[in-house]
Amino acid sequence: MKHYLGIDLGTSSIKVSLADENGTIIDSESRSYPLLLPKLNWSEQNPDDWYNGMIEALKTLHIRNDLSSVASLSFSGQMHGLVLLDKYDQVIRPALLWNDSRTVDEVDYLNNVIGEDTLLKETSNIALCGFTAPKILWVKKHEEDNFNRISKIMLPKDYLAYRLSGVFASDVSDLSGTLFFDVKNRSYSAYMLDILGIREEQLPAIKDSYEVIGHVKKEYQKIIGLTPKTKVVIGGGDQAVGAVGTNTIAPGEISISLGTSGVVFAPLKSYNFDKKGQIHAFRHANGQFMFMGCTLSAMGSLKWFLEEVLHTTDFSKEISSIGEEISDILFLPYLCGERSPINDPRATGYFSNLSLFYKREDLVKAVIEGICFSLYDVYQVMINDGLTAPFARVIGGGTKSPKLLQILSDIFGIPMKTITTSDGGALGAIILAMVGDGLYPSLEVAASKLIKDKEIYYPNEEKHQLYLKKFAEYKNLYLRNKKD
Ligand code: XUL
Repeated sequence: MKHYLGIDLGTSSIKVSLADENGTIIDSESRSYPLLLPKLNWSEQNPDDWYNGMIEALKTLHIRNDLSSVASLSFSGQMHGLVLLDKYDQVIRPALLWNDSRTVDEVDYLNNVIGEDTLLKETSNIALCGFTAPKILWVKKHEEDNFNRISKIMLPKDYLAYRLSGVFASDVSDLSGTLFFDVKNRSYSAYMLDILGIREEQLPAIKDSYEVIGHVKKEYQKIIGLTPKTKVVIGGGDQAVGAVGTNTIAPGEISISLGTSGVVFAPLKSYNFDKKGQIHAFRHANGQFMFMGCTLSAMGSLKWFLEEVLHTTDFSKEISSIGEEISDILFLPYLCGERSPINDPRATGYFSNLSLFYKREDLVKAVIEGICFSLYDVYQVMINDGLTAPFARVIGGGTKSPKLLQILSDIFGIPMKTITTSDGGALGAIILAMVGDGLYPSLEVAASKLIKDKEIYYPNEEKHQLYLKKFAEYKNLYLRNKKD
């Protein structure tokens, strides 16, 4: 029997999972590494910490398993990070990560001087602090020596693929978040490269996420037991690969991720972009197009409210005590600004319409509704851009709460489904490896065979109508308090 490896490069740790041909994860190992926060708004990591973590995890898996049967491996990577190598392939400086926000000036320059319309035309997206292009401008302005030494520019998971295979490549899903990749035309934007002062030779070859880019170098056989027959499949950005791992590939099948942050992810029938750039227009891991919107404080808001305000860690008790009534209380979950769809780093959290009448459980419910409204806000932009979704698959920590899933369904007005697997990232990378190896003809076929639905929550139409009114008030509360 052949085996497959999925390598999930996260911000707090790297997880390597070994699966058999049935997609059953038979073993996994992870290693964590530090997040470097040397200055306010800076967020960095050492690419060699990722690499060493991956090798250490593989060494341990190699002790417990025979890795010579691994036919292929692939990656799910934290997106947008800037990794720079010099002509000797040495890392020039720590990688600037997706959650680094030092690039406010560069983002202003790109959106206001170059102009959002030009950026949308060239890349299908507008500039955000997290994206890669503003990070390149920052290095160019503040670290000229480093900028002049750049020989290769790559994304986090591309560094691991490069070390293992010696092939300098990236994929369309991850490149979509750089703002120098022309999402529509699947090529680098010469115009953007010119603005950034970089050349195409410095950039990786553009591949599909399930494409084999090469094989594991011979030198690794002794250390981690992978033979030079093991194919390296480039993999993709974590959101796209996670969507593969939840079978969100066919157009119309949206997924909602309820983690610390929230994501609404929607594969599209054909190319589209949002005229105001309120949501991201990216390529999916199957090479087709998708819309994606990320909110910054989803379950993070609930955790904050329960732990910091109510001083409890018994989340299920708090959530199970909430009632059926829809109160007047409004909560805006913008506890660290907001990304999609309002793209407002200055937005803040709010409670509104409080009165003596309300109790603890009414506040908990308002927080949950606020989180769901912030995701519904993203979904509304997608609907206005022509999306229709008959249902959504929900993943992440929030799926542990049936009450929360019911509120989400009532607010969205569509059924919410949960799935049997909880490790979408690892499974998505494993599916990419399987398709790259030829075990399945496509991501769609593999995912529908390996991923099964679990429960379904149907919307209550009466509550949906009440929630539409409450959502209008939620939007007004934000607009009334918006800081210019
Ligand atoms: C996607 C995004 C995050 C990071 C880190 O746009 O910013 O998902 O990839 O996980």
